[in-house]
Amino acid sequence: MQYPNFTKEHKSLMAKYLTKEVFEELKDLKTANGFTLSKAIKSGIDNPDSGIGVYAGDKESYDTFGALFDSIIQEYHGFSKEDKHKSNLNPDELDAPNPDPKDEFIVSTRIRVGRNLADFPLGPAISKEQRDEVEKIVSSTLGLLKGSLAGKYYPLLGMSEADRLSLVEDHFLFKAGDRFLESAGLNRDWPSGRGIYHNNEKTFLVWINEEDELRIISMQKGGDIKEVFQRLVLAISELEKKMKFAFSDHLGYITSCPTNLGTAMRASVHIALPKLAKDMEKFKSITDKHHLQIRGVHGEHSQSEDGIYDISNKRRLGVTEVQCVQDMYDGVVELIKTEKEVI
Ligand code: ADP
Ligand code: ARG
Repeated sequence: MQYPNFTKEHKSLMAKYLTKEVFEELKDLKTANGFTLSKAIKSGIDNPDSGIGVYAGDKESYDTFGALFDSIIQEYHGFSKEDKHKSNLNPDELDAPNPDPKDEFIVSTRIRVGRNLADFPLGPAISKEQRDEVEKIVSSTLGLLKGSLAGKYYPLLGMSEADRLSLVEDHFLFKAGDRFLESAGLNRDWPSGRGIYHNNEKTFLVWINEEDELRIISMQKGGDIKEVFQRLVLAISELEKKMKFAFSDHLGYITSCPTNLGTAMRASVHIALPKLAKDMEKFKSITDKHHLQIRGVHGEHSQSEDGIYDISNKRRLGVTEVQCVQDMYDGVVELIKTEKEVI
């Protein structure tokens, strides 16, 4: 493998930290699952507009290719090689009374975590047989859930195109054909092994074998952020009794993209801020202060519609789950206050 031909367009953290020295150190290494540097960086090379540009094939990748991953993790999360991740999933410690009880601004709230099974490689290095096995294990375990979490699994294989598109449009299901995932090898054998589980109300959902093997999701209309968190915590604790997830004391929950390490949590609201949207500088100063990210209404890499934005925590590693949600909550309170003040 040759040193990549980076252009001026390659702006990812991978392009920044893959110096010739780091490349020489890592180029011939391989994990037990056969994952290599060239597989890890392919997405960032194929997609020069990547912000991160790198994926892990297994937990071991984070050690084997540490000379690259550590710098990316340090810059994205402000988390050093010596730090240890901390967890706190106690909803009693979250201070989040509904910031919009009259439903004037917040359309919906969603909190998700990523998880991967401890005994399998991550999606970029998984084989078709292993992926199908993960689907079987996870969907049958979900089938054991009771009460408010009870639901049904809908595999993508055999789902009508109309049903799939309506689930995507209504914000319940992942999109098909993401080019970053494609280059990372995460769309291989599509749609086999992929699917979505949900309860009847679609307030508790689990994506199987997208970017991570599980994305555990709690969502509902309005701004009762604490209720959404409580449902998610219940689901995580029930699933943790039945499955072993990939985890390390240093990096927390192991995910295929380094941005999701740690809590693997993204807590978001869809919120209408049409006035603030006309003053992006002010908007961004508030989101930056609270460590928040702005996305469009159809998820990552999408545009906002009708002044509605997806606002979520940016920090996931080295902060607890409660802190991730608190970051989002505190920022949303300030955004609503400012939106009301703008004439
Ligand atoms: P992820 O959160 O899983 O990393 P995306 O940004 O692609 O990935 O979002 C996935 C889906 O979840 C998209 O359809 C997006 O619109 C939807 N979504 C995110 N936040 C909310 C929210 N607060 N309310 C409703 N849907 C949401
Ligand atoms: N690989 C893409 C990039 O570098 C996405 C990174 C973060 N998003 C994610 N879904 N993991 O821009």
